[in-house]
Amino acid sequence: IPVSSFDYVVFGATGDLTQRKLLPALYQRFRDGQIPESSRIIGASRTELGTEDFRARARDALLSFVPAGDIDEAKLRGFLDHLFYVAVDALGEDGWGELKRMLDERPDRIRPFYLATSPDLYGAICRSLDRHGLIGENTRVVLEKPIGKDLKSARAINDAVGAVFPESQIFRIDHYLGKETVQNLLALRFANTIFERLWNADVIDHVQITVGETVGVEGRAGYYDTSGALRDMVQNHILQLLCLTAMESPISLDADSVRDEKLKVLRALKPITAADVQTVTVRGQYAAGAVGGQPVTGYQTDLGDHPSSRTETFVALKLEVRTWRWAGVPFYVRTGKRLPKKHSEIVVQFRASPFSIFPSESFGREPNRLVIRLQPEEGMKLEVMTKDPGPGGMRLRPTNLDISFEEAFKQRYPDAYERLLMDVVRGNATLFMRRDEVEVAWAWADTLLKAWAERPEPPRPYAAGSWGPTAAIALIERDGRTWHEELA
Ligand code: BG6
Repeated sequence: IPVSSFDYVVFGATGDLTQRKLLPALYQRFRDGQIPESSRIIGASRTELGTEDFRARARDALLSFVPAGDIDEAKLRGFLDHLFYVAVDALGEDGWGELKRMLDERPDRIRPFYLATSPDLYGAICRSLDRHGLIGENTRVVLEKPIGKDLKSARAINDAVGAVFPESQIFRIDHYLGKETVQNLLALRFANTIFERLWNADVIDHVQITVGETVGVEGRAGYYDTSGALRDMVQNHILQLLCLTAMESPISLDADSVRDEKLKVLRALKPITAADVQTVTVRGQYAAGAVGGQPVTGYQTDLGDHPSSRTETFVALKLEVRTWRWAGVPFYVRTGKRLPKKHSEIVVQFRASPFSIFPSESFGREPNRLVIRLQPEEGMKLEVMTKDPGPGGMRLRPTNLDISFEEAFKQRYPDAYERLLMDVVRGNATLFMRRDEVEVAWAWADTLLKAWAERPEPPRPYAAGSWGPTAAIALIERDGRTWHEELA
């Protein structure tokens, strides 16, 4: 869908997110002809730079973070011509007059303000936008995560932003919602009759969500050490995946209908209290090891100056969604840094057939699984039992009905930010989080953080390059189940 002309103002324009994700995503949209000719992308940050310096930095960022095959010199130059820069002091007065002068040149434009800064500055930036008369009918504000570190701080941010922007103009990013496979989950569930009829406790045994990363804390040790995997990945990305898997059919795809259904799932999530912590949660922290054949140091060494951190870099949880549809169906989730592969998937495991007519050695009761792969190779597969070919008798084995999206559609898979940045311009908030969702997710996370704090055990060490502490395997095996492993 074509978009109207816009002035996209990016605060935090010299930061990592802008360089790694936002500029490459906007470049790709430009390459696909999606950025109207007179639109401007205005970088704003405290650093004193001119537009030409900003363009030179942007060029370097694009050459580093856009796949080489997607770089086209003429397009690159054309894109850079859309970039402008203003030095703005988020906490002071400098630069706001200049920003206002630029934006007032084209008052009718769609005007998103993307806050890619530290969340501590969100309130101050919004107040300045208001004080300088920069907010109107066509403005939107985009908030990056983390929106707070607990319910209290999330509310403070939401209050500060909400004091100047109506909720309909606030776009809270969870970039997992922009991933193609995540949207495909909606298509799978609500555009096919075969799955939704089976999508309940009568037929489904359990669900697994794994988000594995090979990276360590990279350059973000300061942030990560005050956050940990629960706040960094579970409170947002994993709960969003769980919501889309577990929610009822929304009455339409409009933003509030989808968000109403997700909110109900979050509300139905059983709080984990101190009494359950030992049986349904595992916290881990990576120690030295090897990932992809390369030796890597442990978390404590990566932190450098906080050698006795108890922050978790891995979490495994057994969750319960307390509704009729899901009663008795556990959702096992796990995520961690320095795992063996970057691999994220949702596995829906159906119940085993109630009775086997096949000889027992043929594994006739191996359950069906639907595996939704988020990354690296987006796709879906259904594991079904088939007969081993040959005259040797009725021997069965699981085989995959497999769709790789890239092969099926033979086209580039856009990065999540490409979709989300343009949805902001279109004013489509379906894939963004509403205030109540964020706060209910934090309330649930706060209960668990409090429960952990009441039993101050250090996280369990796991070797970098393994699938987390052995306790995470025990968490699921105690229930007679196993984590899904890729079939060859
Ligand atoms: C971010 C987290 O939100 O998501 C990072 O802060 C994490 O710690 C990243 O690495 C993972 O995103 P993706 O798209 O690479 O799976």
